[in-house]
Amino acid sequence: MEQKKQLVDLDWNNLGFSYIKTDYRYISYWKNGAWDEGKLTKDNQVHISEGSTALHYGQTCFEGLKAYRTKSGDIQLFRPDRNAKRMQESCERLLMPVVSEEKFIDAVKQAVKANEQWIPPYGTEGSLYIRPYMIGVGDNIGVQPADEYIFSVFVMPVGAYFKGGLTPTNFIVSEYDRAASYGTGAVKVGGNYGSSFLPWDKAQKRQFSDCIYLDPATHTKIEEVGSANFFAITKDGTFVTPASPSILPSITKYSLLHLAEHYLNMPVVEGDVYIDRLDDYAEAGACGTAAVITPIGGIQYKDDFHVFYSETAVGPVTTKLYDLLTGIQFGDVEGPKDWIVKV
Ligand SMILES: Cc1ncc(COP(=O)(O)O)c(C=O)c1O
Repeated sequence: MEQKKQLVDLDWNNLGFSYIKTDYRYISYWKNGAWDEGKLTKDNQVHISEGSTALHYGQTCFEGLKAYRTKSGDIQLFRPDRNAKRMQESCERLLMPVVSEEKFIDAVKQAVKANEQWIPPYGTEGSLYIRPYMIGVGDNIGVQPADEYIFSVFVMPVGAYFKGGLTPTNFIVSEYDRAASYGTGAVKVGGNYGSSFLPWDKAQKRQFSDCIYLDPATHTKIEEVGSANFFAITKDGTFVTPASPSILPSITKYSLLHLAEHYLNMPVVEGDVYIDRLDDYAEAGACGTAAVITPIGGIQYKDDFHVFYSETAVGPVTTKLYDLLTGIQFGDVEGPKDWIVKV
């Protein structure tokens, strides 16, 4: 099997979450109403027209998933069909051509296989982050969708997204909105993220990892973090996570909902999490592909700082969920059927 390829020389135990140029990326072009077959290339520069809609009108969407190396050396993906489907939803929202689930997964597998030497060894907690994206390109100027598109997938080894991995981190509630109530919050489009840089920077300057956004209509309920969904465990052991049309439907969040209910036999609720009712919760966390599960130590809301379980220790339910989720992702625990796809 190809896993025998010599790994590149990296400090695998200290990977952060930053760009590393790997050897190959997949790229496919849409022209005259159809995708070409796509190919791998060594060129990490994208050459596009100055009139590309992605540059001016934000006609761009992306995905994020990971490849994991198991104890036996296999390489596996976690629920890539869900990312394929979410990318289709993003494309439909921005009037871009969709990529079939089959083409999406094939592109992901090609990019992962071609960069196998970059997949962190089992036991380091690192993984290969996979970034599929689509951009509107070509010679355009009017405010309307492009006629040509690029779909590409690149990859890089990563460690923890929030410094420290499974150690509690603090967040601050932002006064800005991430997305409008019936805007584009539920899809993974570029515009949602560009506008989050300023609130993120303000949070960082005050020593918080990121901000938490409230619902745009009433500013009374937690929506999500800038790059992850939110969950909490009530004092009587219910898994609660916000429901809203303006948050990104996190694949990790839905996986945790399933695991909490069916593997840990917990009651689960997708509902309202009021910012003035944080005392109801014993533990809280941020979850996502990059964040995995990041325990939330405390949340700053206006002048109050609310600590959940502890600012330094991880709560017991959060720990159980983390072990279960990462156990499945790294192949140590048998998960639900169809969650794992071998490369
Ligand atoms: C805004 C936002 N929320 C939530 C998530 C987590 O989603 P997932 O679990 O599918 O990675 C992400 C990352 O993709 C995100 O960017």
